Amino acid sequence: MEFANRIAALKPSAIREILKAPSDPETVTLAAGNPSPEAFPAAEMAALAAEIFQNDAPDALQYGISEGYAPLRERTRERALRMHGIGRESDDLIITSGGQQVVELTAKTLLNEGDTVICENPSFIGALNALRSYGVKLVGVPCRGAGMDIAALEQALREHPEAKMIYTIPTFQNPAGEVMPLPARKRLLELAAAHGAAVLEDDPYRELRYGGEHVPPIKSMDEEGRVVYAGSFSKIVAPGIRLGFALAPAPLIAKMTAAKQVSDVHSNLFFQILVERYMARYDLDAHIARCRALYKTRRDAMDGALRRHMPGAKWVVPEGGLFLWVKLPGGRDGTEFCRRAKEKKVMAVPGSAFLTEEGGFSDAIRLNFSLPTPEQIEIGVERLGQTL
Ligand SMILES: Cc1ncc(COP(=O)(O)O)c(C=O)c1O
Repeated sequence: MEFANRIAALKPSAIREILKAPSDPETVTLAAGNPSPEAFPAAEMAALAAEIFQNDAPDALQYGISEGYAPLRERTRERALRMHGIGRESDDLIITSGGQQVVELTAKTLLNEGDTVICENPSFIGALNALRSYGVKLVGVPCRGAGMDIAALEQALREHPEAKMIYTIPTFQNPAGEVMPLPARKRLLELAAAHGAAVLEDDPYRELRYGGEHVPPIKSMDEEGRVVYAGSFSKIVAPGIRLGFALAPAPLIAKMTAAKQVSDVHSNLFFQILVERYMARYDLDAHIARCRALYKTRRDAMDGALRRHMPGAKWVVPEGGLFLWVKLPGGRDGTEFCRRAKEKKVMAVPGSAFLTEEGGFSDAIRLNFSLPTPEQIEIGVERLGQTL
């Protein structure tokens, strides 16, 4: 069977082969992007689920509207404004199936085949693939310690004045772990305005900050309605419920709603009701504070283990998020390193997996510290040291 061009280009790469689940239960995985199951509010969700099935099954099991369950939309909107200062009168909010769907719907709504999108290089594979599936041209801009490098962005825009969109993960960038400072955020927005480009701000890690100062979202400075903000419940409640949201100018949300209708009609209504009740009945902020405490311990455990076992490697301890981006000593090839690490029963993701140009070289690896326990982190990083 011959596949459509848009999907034929998305080949399972050699890297994904390395990452296939190990058959050996002894293998420690530092390759996932998963939150810890300890961070799921499972007991509260069980009580709410029983209540919903008992009293509200006709609503929860019925079709809903594509924009999302109205009380959850309102609560999410109120929280986004209160916590992050985002959402103007002229904006609207749609509940999506994760932040991933915001990227997909934004691409579907704003981009034509052949359009240029500027993004960080490295960047989140799920978003890059969503963009690739719409046939857009990706132009990568490096991260040099403070998120997307603004001088390099200016250069990229000079070379590609036709760019339609800038896709950025400014807070605890995946995979680099970096945060774009406030002046750079302002400049990015100015540059986007000067070029008539949209900005997609992908921000699922914002609330997982373990130290340092909070930096406002680009969306909070968006006077012109140029920024689509992608939020997610995956890292603060649970990823399996598949809930996120887009906050963007109302006419754009209307088009994204039409795009969502032909995609999945609406996001899972049972979980939308459940999350709304969770937010109403329990203290989500206190829950997130517990997640932060858990992950900070694990981040510090990984930093300590790296100091002990990976001499010569370089990393910056991230102030938040779920990942540590480690440069191997001596310019070693991250892909070959991860292949050998797997033989030593530890899995990491090679930096090359996150590049805009598939098959490129990277001497970095991405390590996840949220899923493994501190004991597993110690064992896993020790094995990485042996691999080195
Ligand atoms: C930068 C970034 N954006 C979006 C997502 C998608 O998350 P979800 O669809 O679960 O909300 C992820 C998940 O790892 C991510 O790292």
